[in-house]
Amino acid sequence: MLITGATGGTGGFAVQLARLAGAHVVASTGDPAAHGDALRALGADEVVAGAANVGEPVHGVLDMVGGPELVTAFDRLADGGTLVAVGRVMGKGEDFAWGALSGNRGHDRSLVTFYLPAESAVAPDLTWLATKAASGVLRPHIAWRGPWDKAAEAVEALLGRRLHGKAVLDIT
Ligand SMILES: NC(=O)c1ccc[n+]([C@@H]2O[C@H](COP(=O)([O-])OP(=O)(O)OC[C@H]3O[C@@H](n4cnc5c(N)ncnc54)[C@H](OP(=O)(O)O)[C@@H]3O)[C@@H](O)[C@H]2O)c1
Repeated sequence: MLITGATGGTGGFAVQLARLAGAHVVASTGDPAAHGDALRALGADEVVAGAANVGEPVHGVLDMVGGPELVTAFDRLADGGTLVAVGRVMGKGEDFAWGALSGNRGHDRSLVTFYLPAESAVAPDLTWLATKAASGVLRPHIAWRGPWDKAAEAVEALLGRRLHGKAVLDIT
């Protein structure tokens, strides 16, 4: 299972959940030297600098990045594999070259969308996740914490790829 944007607030959970489910986890980050140890501590078996550096074809992709990274990740899918398009931090579209969706590049591959607010029954899942977080099985990885009026600082750091994990704002 390939997780792109693995150092992010969402990707960090994806790495842990994929590992808990028994997958061989390949975590992708723009900076493996800086984030490799942390990703391996979360459960990554391999850490790569982008989907282009994935060796063996994978059976699943959870893509937090979108744009050209989604296109490259789709190309790394094995027969029967599924890519779930979760995020799009790049701000770029997905431009598939002619032939990229050809069956002979990987038979029966799927690209599916996901949108949390449209999911109808999240309560049981969120309860399960909260229980796992409370017991320490899942780590939320709070990378920044500060007062509500410093929200701009956290957003700036997130957009600048200097904040990896969750930012928590205290409402005072
Ligand atoms: N579909 C849904 O229901 C749903 C739910 C939750 C989140 N999302 C979406 O999922 C995406 C990720 O959310 P998040 O909260 O995890 O964001 P985040 O904490 O900002 O993490 C995104 C990660 O992507 C990487 N990244 C950032 N800019 C990049 C770029 N230009 N090119 C390649 N990699 C880049 C960064 O990792 P490195 O710097 O280590 O490469 C960063 O840690 C967002 O688009 C969010 O809206 C969707």
